[in-house]
Amino acid sequence: MIRIAESIKVIQSENSLTKNFDCYTAQNVRSFHKSFPNYKPTPLVELNGCAHHLGIKKIWLKDESHRFGLNAFKVLGASYAVAKFFAEMFGVNEKELSYSIFTEATIREKAKKLTLVTATDGNHGRGVAWTAKQIGCKSVVYMPKGTKKARFDNIKSLGADVYIIDGNYDDASYLARENAEKFGWILVQDSSWEGYEKIPLWIMQGYLTLMHESFEQLSGEIPTHFFVQCGVGSLPAAVQAYLVNQFGNDRPLFAIVEPNDAACVYESFVAGDGNVHTLTNEIHTIMAGLACGTPSKLAWEIMRDYSNYFITCDDEVTKSGMDILAKGTFGDDKIVSGESGAVTTGLIHKLLSDSAYRQLAEKLKLNSDSKIFLISTEGDTDPKIYKKITQETL
Ligand SMILES: Cc1ncc(COP(=O)(O)O)c(C=O)c1O
Repeated sequence: MIRIAESIKVIQSENSLTKNFDCYTAQNVRSFHKSFPNYKPTPLVELNGCAHHLGIKKIWLKDESHRFGLNAFKVLGASYAVAKFFAEMFGVNEKELSYSIFTEATIREKAKKLTLVTATDGNHGRGVAWTAKQIGCKSVVYMPKGTKKARFDNIKSLGADVYIIDGNYDDASYLARENAEKFGWILVQDSSWEGYEKIPLWIMQGYLTLMHESFEQLSGEIPTHFFVQCGVGSLPAAVQAYLVNQFGNDRPLFAIVEPNDAACVYESFVAGDGNVHTLTNEIHTIMAGLACGTPSKLAWEIMRDYSNYFITCDDEVTKSGMDILAKGTFGDDKIVSGESGAVTTGLIHKLLSDSAYRQLAEKLKLNSDSKIFLISTEGDTDPKIYKKITQETL
């Protein structure tokens, strides 16, 4: 089942939040990430065979499985936020922010006594643990019940103290918040709420590197549509705010994509009161990175005002996306894309290849002129499941 809600009241001008995602900021964030020893832009792949098969003009896929050897985009946010935190403490100017903040002796001396704490479905926690390792501080990571061993091990191997709790992602997030207060740890959460906004904003700004690279790689071409997958919303909101800054009213159409069972942004939108809503249903989805029950406040305030469409779909959609990308079904390069990474590819394919969805495709203005931008946000972060799914669908 696919559900689509269309926003008819999309705000046209910049709001005070989107100003934090302008070109100047994106340039600075990218310069920061460029200074990392293993920095390389992730590939922007053209899926020409798939686009041709579906009767549209273009599909671009930003492949984040190549990000700093961590198999997902999330480290962009954690690394930038932690760097900004120390920069503020030591009075380092934003323009001078570089990887050296992680290696500078006086900063490392201070960091040694500090602990970063977070909750995660996997990728964000891995980014926090990796960053803690760079700067030499401790990290504590809480993960929800049902977390797969591979995702736990990925974080543990970076030296973090990792715990799988008897609760969902939101419970893990409350625990991280509680223990940060109790023990004086630094909460590095990729979601925000009333009174906790500074670090989540830096995390969102960290994701701008991805957009800055993408527009360089697009060399002047402008997509007509963005379909971006959503957990708490920090990624889609950052992408969207960047587009508002770049293109104003002429920006591409923007669709937020969530799992049916974890549709907290969709439900907040259809509630119609402008506020964040928490899901009351149990969440069962293989899209672990998107399995969140409450939208981030900051992200929601952007998504609410600028999204054109809110879409939800089931696990079969992402399985087909994983399969198409794994096999290069339509003659395109093969791409390793995990459960949360491939959902938008599966969605586009479903909407344009299944006649039952023709009306929905029309509603989304998908046609032979469409040039679609997608992000494969992770690779095979759980290799066993990845293998099982892509072999099952053969
Ligand atoms: C692979 C992957 N894709 C997408 C997302 C969604 O990002 P956000 O929670 O910022 O909406 C996540 C979040 O953890 C993720 O791990």
